[in-house]
Amino acid sequence: MTTSRRTVITAGAAAGLAAAAAGATPADANSGGRAVREHFGTLKDGTRVDRWTIENGRTRLKVLSYGGIVQTLEIPDRHGHRANVSLGFADLDSYVAHSPYFGALIGRYGNRIARGTFTLNGHKYRLPVNDGPNSLHGGDKGFDKHVWSVKPFHKGADVGLTLRRVSPDGEMGYPGTLTVRVDYTLTAAGDFRIDYEATTDKPTVVNLTNHTYFNLAGEGTGTVYDHRLRIAASRYTPVDKTLIPTGELAKVAGTPFDFRRAKEIGRDIREAHPQVLYAQGYDHNFVLDKGVTHRPENIVTVTEPGSGRVMKIATTEPGVQFYSGNFLTGTFAGTSGHVYRQSDGFCLETQHFPDSPNHPDFPSTVLRPGQTYRSSTVHSFSTR
Ligand code: GLA
Repeated sequence: MTTSRRTVITAGAAAGLAAAAAGATPADANSGGRAVREHFGTLKDGTRVDRWTIENGRTRLKVLSYGGIVQTLEIPDRHGHRANVSLGFADLDSYVAHSPYFGALIGRYGNRIARGTFTLNGHKYRLPVNDGPNSLHGGDKGFDKHVWSVKPFHKGADVGLTLRRVSPDGEMGYPGTLTVRVDYTLTAAGDFRIDYEATTDKPTVVNLTNHTYFNLAGEGTGTVYDHRLRIAASRYTPVDKTLIPTGELAKVAGTPFDFRRAKEIGRDIREAHPQVLYAQGYDHNFVLDKGVTHRPENIVTVTEPGSGRVMKIATTEPGVQFYSGNFLTGTFAGTSGHVYRQSDGFCLETQHFPDSPNHPDFPSTVLRPGQTYRSSTVHSFSTR
């Protein structure tokens, strides 16, 4: 990995730009944080991949232009010690070779579409099948495997990155040219906010999310079994053996899926419930009690007792995929050189429900010309 010229932008502008011109790394801006660009690697076809570092409050975030990947997310523990709480890799080649969507932007359609087909306006569309009989996370070359254009921004005391890409009509079988913008923002309080926006020139389906795997004790420190998780969902969408929703909205009450009161992730993960067996743990969409909302509303609290780190998630989305890292099987090492094993991280992917295009009674994922797709998710960090 080589580091070439660094571009530095600070909110306090003058001081930071002067420091950049002098070739120095600037001190933290007094307010509004900062953004730094460096060369991260080069793809086989010669495309350059950048890594951006943004910092605000006590939070530091590193993002790759490849896949919009959240490479590292550093937040303090109860003693103020920062650690990276996001699983990933130290180099580009590992992301390209075998990343299970670590930190990536997922599109056009997060999670599965049954047998890779759906019908819209009487036309049947076929998508590449890349997960057993189904299409997963936008097909074999989803948004996570493209290089995005990235530009830093400052808005008041916030610092952020705007990521853009245009997905051509027919890409991975999906109709319509989709113009996508994603803003990653760190607020002055150190919260991490993601805002998605998309427009199309033909009717299509859209379901964007981010696939960060968290371990609030620190990346590479072992399993997340003792993290306490609360999800404000009374129902979830049970799946068949290929992890496609059956269409039922089942009650969580009396099942391992009841996270309405905080409990350890590991508490019921070995229960012989058929749904847990299908997924080898949790890999399910929770139907959020609040439904679709215009503003992000709180849906999740995760607490790691050892470090005291607490993450709250608020979203506009009607669902969240809770995935307990079941397919991490000890076959590669992550950012800090430790081998990842089952449940060494968890994902909470805010979303519309999996396979919605084939379930007319699920909240719609159809986007038509003239409409704007919008979705927002906020991760807030504190300690106790
Ligand atoms: C999602 C899916 C899982 C799995 C992971 C990536 O969370 O629901 O089944 O594919 O992505 O490994």
